[in-house]
Amino acid sequence: MTRTSSRQRIAFGLAALAATFGATGANAQEGSINIICSVQAEWCNMLQTVYARTTGVKVNMSLKGSGEALAQLIAERANPKTDIWFGGTGDPHLQAAEQGITLEYKSPVLPQLHGWAQQQAQQSGWKTVGIYSGPLGFGYNPELLAKKKLAAPRSWADLLKPEYKGEIQVANPASSGTAYTMVATLVQLMGEDKAFDYMKALHRNIATYTRSGTGPIKAVARGEATVSISFVHDGPGEKMQGFPVETVTPAEGTGAEIGSMSLVKGARNLEAAKKFYDWALTASAQEMGAAAKQFQLPSNKGAKVDPNVPDFKKIKFINYDYAKYGSSAERRRLIAKWEKDVNSLPR
Ligand code: F6P
Repeated sequence: MTRTSSRQRIAFGLAALAATFGATGANAQEGSINIICSVQAEWCNMLQTVYARTTGVKVNMSLKGSGEALAQLIAERANPKTDIWFGGTGDPHLQAAEQGITLEYKSPVLPQLHGWAQQQAQQSGWKTVGIYSGPLGFGYNPELLAKKKLAAPRSWADLLKPEYKGEIQVANPASSGTAYTMVATLVQLMGEDKAFDYMKALHRNIATYTRSGTGPIKAVARGEATVSISFVHDGPGEKMQGFPVETVTPAEGTGAEIGSMSLVKGARNLEAAKKFYDWALTASAQEMGAAAKQFQLPSNKGAKVDPNVPDFKKIKFINYDYAKYGSSAERRRLIAKWEKDVNSLPR
């Protein structure tokens, strides 16, 4: 499908959305919803604008990384100010479900979703749902590598090479779901002791731990770092802006996120929030990701898969245990251990 026809599909979806709401234009429907959005700003902004214009519902968006979003929802649980948490890695959404911060809801759109997205819903007691998926890997700047006479990394083992000292960026797992996915992936791939030895060795090569998971690949694209540990779907959007950045998934195997969405328990605008939630699961709403140059795999089976979306069939995946690594106890324990055993070490 061409870009134009993808736009036509979105336009068609908007018409359907307007019909669903009986809306004839802006302000046709009263109300507002408050969303924490944990994908990139371009996608959040598009959802906000399109939804508000089509339904008349005012959408207040606040952008937060996955770990930060969870921390905010925990902090405001007695008096929630948020109605929906859209996007971000699935592990903290599962933790929110377990802690009773999010609300059980079975959307009528669920049967349209891939099995992995429905499974995410089922294992949370229907308190979250998969909206996209994407593999963890590396970003690298080929121009910077050539200038420094360095080879592109191909494996987790490669990242420990002494020549990469100070060249690698990754986010902090406390604030970033991307970085927590790395910790959980390494633990599953190597076993916990070896994974922590690996992260301690990797620490020597890390230039900075960023707050946001997409910070490192943006730094690589802009020549501020040589290599990043990132979701590989975050590469093509940078490349389309003209930045020199390539991605690769590690030879030993890697994990994937199930980017998720949850309704907040005690939401003040629950009915309006449910309508947004149902809409966000439709094929046409999910195609807005690619329209905003975000290339995760959509969870709606009917959504067009953009050619820039990583080809999952070509990637070696571990069998990521979402239930275990999304549990509160495990996520808290691993992050605390990373802070104590890895982040506190000198570099
Ligand atoms: O929006 C890009 C993205 O990589 C998502 O696919 C992912 O869910 C999110 O960022 C994670 O962000 P963070 O690591 O900051 O929590």
